[in-house]
Amino acid sequence: MVCLGNICRSPLAEGIMKAKLDKYNLPYSVDSAGTGNWHEGESPDHRSVKIALENGVDISNQRARGFNPEDFDRFDLIYAMDKSNLNTLKDRTTNTAHHAKIRLIMDAMSKTGKEVPDPYYGNLNDFRDVYCMLDEICEEIALDFVEKSQKS
Ligand code: 4NP
Repeated sequence: MVCLGNICRSPLAEGIMKAKLDKYNLPYSVDSAGTGNWHEGESPDHRSVKIALENGVDISNQRARGFNPEDFDRFDLIYAMDKSNLNTLKDRTTNTAHHAKIRLIMDAMSKTGKEVPDPYYGNLNDFRDVYCMLDEICEEIALDFVEKSQKS
């Protein structure tokens, strides 16, 4: 799960996805990072922590980090929150296998081209909207994994 600062959106995406993997007993791991590393080592933004807790998800132990080139090999799927971060990730590798792993998270199920908007300069309701978008798409992604695991 990748955003810009790894303090607002991608920590929420990581926490929500982890909760879905637990809920459906799916054997995958999830992590998050930022294309920028200015917030390296910081806790998630207090507004993300609050909104997540309101929904029973504790993200307070997460710490921000920058996206590493090794992440392209460590992970099978790399979900960017918006097109800017999607393009930054694509610009960081020329490897076609790496390129194939990178997608816009809201495109995961139906290709809407929708972005998860950056709530950093917004208010709590903007964080709530981000939470809802991510909860919906992570549920769909998890259910797709469940379906695939039942077929295999
Ligand atoms: P995020 O939000 O990419 O969702 O973590 C941001 C956090 C920090 C900054 C920008 C966006 N910043 O400019 O420091």
